[in-house]
Amino acid sequence: MAENSVASRLQGTGAFALELEGVGRQFGALVALAGIDMRIAAGERRAVLGSNGAGKTTLFNTITGDFLPTSGRIRFFGEDITTLPAHERIRRGLRRTYQISQLFKGLSVIDSIFLACRGVSRRRFSLLRPAATDVNMVQAQSILHAVHLEAERDILVATLSHGQQRQLEIALALAGAPRFILFDEPAAGLSPTERRDLVAILNALPKHIGYVIIEHDLDVALRVSERVSMMHNGRLFKEGTPEEIENDPEVQEIYLGGRHG
Ligand SMILES: Nc1ncnc2c1ncn2[C@@H]1O[C@H](COP(=O)(O)OP(=O)(O)OP(=O)(O)O)[C@@H](O)[C@H]1O
Ligand SMILES: [Mg+2]
Repeated sequence: MAENSVASRLQGTGAFALELEGVGRQFGALVALAGIDMRIAAGERRAVLGSNGAGKTTLFNTITGDFLPTSGRIRFFGEDITTLPAHERIRRGLRRTYQISQLFKGLSVIDSIFLACRGVSRRRFSLLRPAATDVNMVQAQSILHAVHLEAERDILVATLSHGQQRQLEIALALAGAPRFILFDEPAAGLSPTERRDLVAILNALPKHIGYVIIEHDLDVALRVSERVSMMHNGRLFKEGTPEEIENDPEVQEIYLGGRHG
């Protein structure tokens, strides 16, 4: 009883960034999510691993409001956001990147980041070029640095390498005042060098920003997270620290079995 009241007080103060209770999603007869229960502390970094079609992206879509769950509740820093429109969730500091790139290829790198910063701020749009001292431009510059794209500042997005485009997607998620970010396979298609860069970028994000990262590469997942959740057939079936997951016989069978035998 005492424990329950502590838990409910913690919920009220938003000690958890995300709380999912029985979150389900069906597409016709297909059960993509079958009652997900999940709690992620503020500032926590969580990896979600799972086979193709496990429901990982669908989980993100219900959290961001890209579409609604068919059952269950979702709280963000204590507030029930289950049916809140996506833009209202963004206003509260929730961000995501997509598995498939959503960049505007005809803009320069700095303009893309600037427009993302301006878009989530309350300031009005202007057709004038922003001054270097413009508050959104100052933030855009600092984000450019955070995602290691300073040398690409003025080139067109279309001419960036695949890895640099994925770095730019992270940049857009950092616009404004993010409190929690959902990264959908940011390492997909990256070279080993680009993967190392990604790990460094994620590990250097401000500590108050928590995230969930969907990742197929176990090495990347274990190096950028404090806890790992495993997903299969719309369900979470295992959770642990990176060490626990790495040493788990079932996980070794799934991830290392193929590689070594
Ligand atoms: N909009 C949709 N309409 C119908 N079915 C969908 C839709 N989105 C996802 N699904 C189905 O839900 C299941 C889970 O898909 P989801 O994209 O969440 O998997 P995932 O874990 O992200 O897989 P991957 O690793 O391939 O990205 C799949 O069977 C998929 O075909
Ligand atoms: Mg997916």
